[in-house]
Amino acid sequence: MDSIVNASRKEIEELQLERVRWTLNHAYENVLHYRQRFDSLGVHPSDLKTLKDLSRFPFTEKKDLRDNYPYQMFAVAMKDVVRIHASSGTTGKPTVVAYTKRDVDNWSSLVARSIEIAGGTAQDIVQVSYGYGLFTGGLGAHYGAESLGCAVIPMSGGQTEKQVAMIMDLKPSIIMVTPSYMLTILDEMQRQGIDTKTISLRIGIFGAEPWASATKSEIRSRTSMVGVDIYGLSEIMGPGVASESGLTLDGPIVWEDHFYPEIIDPITKEVLPDGEEGELVITTLTKEALPMVRYRTRDLTKLLEPTATSMRRISPIHGRSDDMLIIRGVNVFPTQIEDMIAKVPSLAPQYLLVVDKEGSLDTLEVKVEIRENASDDAMMRAANELAHHIKSMIGVTAKVTVVNPFEIERTSVGKAKRVLDKRVL
Ligand code: DLL
Repeated sequence: MDSIVNASRKEIEELQLERVRWTLNHAYENVLHYRQRFDSLGVHPSDLKTLKDLSRFPFTEKKDLRDNYPYQMFAVAMKDVVRIHASSGTTGKPTVVAYTKRDVDNWSSLVARSIEIAGGTAQDIVQVSYGYGLFTGGLGAHYGAESLGCAVIPMSGGQTEKQVAMIMDLKPSIIMVTPSYMLTILDEMQRQGIDTKTISLRIGIFGAEPWASATKSEIRSRTSMVGVDIYGLSEIMGPGVASESGLTLDGPIVWEDHFYPEIIDPITKEVLPDGEEGELVITTLTKEALPMVRYRTRDLTKLLEPTATSMRRISPIHGRSDDMLIIRGVNVFPTQIEDMIAKVPSLAPQYLLVVDKEGSLDTLEVKVEIRENASDDAMMRAANELAHHIKSMIGVTAKVTVVNPFEIERTSVGKAKRVLDKRVL
């Protein structure tokens, strides 16, 4: 593990100041968008005297990347770019991101660090079941595991039966996968009569989507794996911006030598003190091809004091500000519903939220699976119990429809789709 991870806060902050200064200069000198933004706000990189001064600089948003599609935000010449990824936008153009050779090396070393802090070593066999391709999950995990010296099985997403065969035959000790797809793999094992408690997997490195308590306890109860939470986003790098310790399991550690985190109030945009919940904003500290100044992630979390290392942690991300559903004026995150599902033991964490309108009123239907085929009566009881928890804890009335096992569509690649909002179709 790099020694900076356990350095004093003073040393870390000195490094951050020097690196924020480098990023501001690099962005200002080489990206027209940043130069125009800084100039119009009347700020110059030389105005940064302390880390607190960063709050005088403008935010960067996904829209800025779209407006500068595809290459105008790049700060280096194409001859120095060695990799391009893109995230599929739900609307309009995808967001294109780029890496120099050094960016890829830094990324690999941060994913290697993330695997190490989870408890992995060069002895491990790692099955990478994040999708390979334009998505950063597969290749990001792959390069990191290889750089730690692990033996990598580049399985990618999908082909669930093959996933199971590889796990049973090649006996990987670590799997890197979205938590929702881990559940699909476990279901397939169960279908084949495999005892999921005794499989070779020792560590699961789960990310790319929120990991709410129902999924977490499901994976814990069905396997003997230690599951850690890995966070990242393509605009900033990909997986490995922050990752959890396998010993303390207390939230992803932000790799503060490469990223400077801030939490802002999403409405007033004021910087909030550590411990307060808001939107995570990240400034990259070493990115050459695509420096990001105060990128608004839309992810809601808080900054927590260091524990396993000298670097601060974030609390598990329970949703994005743009995932929030407003049901008759009440703010609801899908993960809150998932937490309520966890309270009803007969229900599985496989669900779909269907939001619609009846006249001018919003309606919320929760479709959720029962664990084992059960009588109509038992299904009705589970539905009533869940509707009661949602009403009393979240404050909205939901229609709960309990369905048989495997009736909710599974994702085989990528992130689970939990919401069908018919109001916006
Ligand atoms: O999901 C990168 C990644 C791949 C992270 C594999 C971890 C593992 P994007 O496709 O750009 O990149 O999506 C980024 O996914 O802003 C969050 O909303 C969400 N997300 C990522 N990791 C987590 C996590 C990759 N651990 C967006 N918990 C982010 C909750 C997460 N949400």
